Amino acid sequence: MTIVQSHKRCSFMKEKIINILKEYNTDKGRLMDILLDIQGEYHHISDEAVRIIADQLDISKVDVEQTISFYHFFSLEPVGKYAIYLNDSAVANMFGREEVAKAFEKELGIPFNAVTGDGLVGIWDTADIGMNDQEPAALINGEIFPNLDPAKVKTIVSGIKSGKEIKDLLPAKVEDNIRKEGPVLFSEYEVGAGLKKALSLTPEQVVDEVKASNVRGRGGAGFPAGMKWDFCRKSGGDEVYLVCNADEGEPGTFKERVILTKLPKLLFEGMAIAAYALNVKEGIIYLRYEYSYLKALLESAIQEMRDEKLLGNAIGGKSGFDFDIRIQLGAGAYVCGEESGLLESMEGKRGEPRNRPPFPVEKGYLDKPTVVNNVETLCCVTKVMINGADWFKAIGTKESAGTKLLSISGDCEKPGVYEVDWGLSISEMLDMVGASSVQAVQVGGPSGTCIDPSHFNKKIAFEDLATGGSMIVIGQERNLLNDFVLNFMEFFIEESCGSCGPCRSLTVTLKNKLNRILSGDGTQNDIDELYNWAGVGAAVNRCGLGQTSARPIISTIENFRGLYEGLVKTDAQYLSAFNMDEAVSESCEVVGRVPNIKSH
Ligand SMILES: Cc1cc2nc3c(=O)[nH]c(=O)nc-3n(C[C@H](O)[C@H](O)[C@H](O)COP(=O)(O)O)c2cc1C
Ligand code: SF4
Repeated sequence: MTIVQSHKRCSFMKEKIINILKEYNTDKGRLMDILLDIQGEYHHISDEAVRIIADQLDISKVDVEQTISFYHFFSLEPVGKYAIYLNDSAVANMFGREEVAKAFEKELGIPFNAVTGDGLVGIWDTADIGMNDQEPAALINGEIFPNLDPAKVKTIVSGIKSGKEIKDLLPAKVEDNIRKEGPVLFSEYEVGAGLKKALSLTPEQVVDEVKASNVRGRGGAGFPAGMKWDFCRKSGGDEVYLVCNADEGEPGTFKERVILTKLPKLLFEGMAIAAYALNVKEGIIYLRYEYSYLKALLESAIQEMRDEKLLGNAIGGKSGFDFDIRIQLGAGAYVCGEESGLLESMEGKRGEPRNRPPFPVEKGYLDKPTVVNNVETLCCVTKVMINGADWFKAIGTKESAGTKLLSISGDCEKPGVYEVDWGLSISEMLDMVGASSVQAVQVGGPSGTCIDPSHFNKKIAFEDLATGGSMIVIGQERNLLNDFVLNFMEFFIEESCGSCGPCRSLTVTLKNKLNRILSGDGTQNDIDELYNWAGVGAAVNRCGLGQTSARPIISTIENFRGLYEGLVKTDAQYLSAFNMDEAVSESCEVVGRVPNIKSH
């Protein structure tokens, strides 16, 4: 390229980037959207682009680069015109991910984490993309390709090589796999009925009804929604925000993908009810990048609700009640599901969780009082409004009212989404999904707990076996420690934001120790040390990620200690990790000497 051509290209790019910035009012708070658009256009965010963004937003280049480097789907280097991200979750590996990965490498002629010489295609690993019921699955330029096999890979790659549009590469479609419709979320309802009821009450009465229903947060922590709303109202701010957490990043969960596809208006109505109760003008759905394929569908449902006067100005004819919803896409970071990391991300920054207090209800988005609620929680609110708190409380158990949406995957005949009453036992759940010969169930994803059959009589409920809804069934023939515990530890290492020392380094130490045991070089003492060290993170890390990242090790040592002990080949209390043969092998090779020292 000549110097003149290069100048022309740069000024064309500058013009384009400035236009993108203008679309977001050159607001640095919208940096995520700006970067997403530039990444989509140029398949990376070049040094020149970073400079232009920094200049125009009046922030430092380092600030822009920091945000870029935090998220999986932003890149300073080109990722390929077609960027293929193949899911590397434990469940993807159960169902043939390795053959699919090999087929991609063979058809493209490149290994993972590389781009073809002509810059056309790049192939990358990624963490769980919310498709555990239809694995192996890949994300290509934001579109999902589920149920892959080597033959489909061949078709995809040949389509790419012949320049096909993403949507024409394969007639692949994400399935909903709704296996059980329960009485709360999936029961018939008239859109707008919940809002109508809410508007017949005062905002205080709406909060009281939600409090009386005991709807607890479905995002995992189980905090009562009504109480959270009450705290927010009492924090006294005049500008209040409502954020719907649709980050759904816990490996094994995909129920919100289905709610967003099948019941978007139930959610938006729940948000409007919350907005009325909390005096919110703007609601934001933080949607994980992996679900960006749903954005157009959600936006059209939002528009329909505006047309029906269920969103917008003077909602339901009530003058002064103005509320609208926008969608904020994430860019790939599990920790952004943590509510304060999510708020940082929404402000265009790295998604590093904040120190708390203050809690978001006092100081949240843009430092204003903010309620963050999960998708399923807000859907429950709509039904509570329509049918009343007593109806809701009559379903489920004493401390867990209503139903729970489960995402069930792994070794079972009918993986998918099930709406069950709280209180269902694990044995009943396994019968329901057609699972026999079960070695373990991973309840609540990697940050939850791995249980053995002696716990299958436990009930799914906050007071017994609490869960955000991810359930992975692990059959007898699976290698629990290699294929699950190790995969989960690698996930947490990859996803730590790195702010806390123990979260950053302890997980790596634990993984190394685990690997030592898995390779047969461990001792009984190593198992005890692994268990004791694993307990440290819960006390010293700032957020839930670091506090739970050792759960895969802790729960499997507690419930499957025999598997660890079976790998220990010696009674010795201590074996040196230092291998002299290995350490001197390189120098021996140089001088042509055979190592003669026996290590161990
Ligand atoms: C690492 C981490 C990831 C999380 N991911 C999510 C998520 O994807 N969706 C969600 O609703 N809550 C997630 N949470 C919990 C949120 O911090 C928060 O409690 C929740 O969104 C509040 O909504 P709820 O009260 O309606 O459950 C996560 C927490 C942690 C520590
Ligand atoms: S615990 Fe881990 S993920 Fe959470 S703030 Fe600390 S380093 Fe970040």
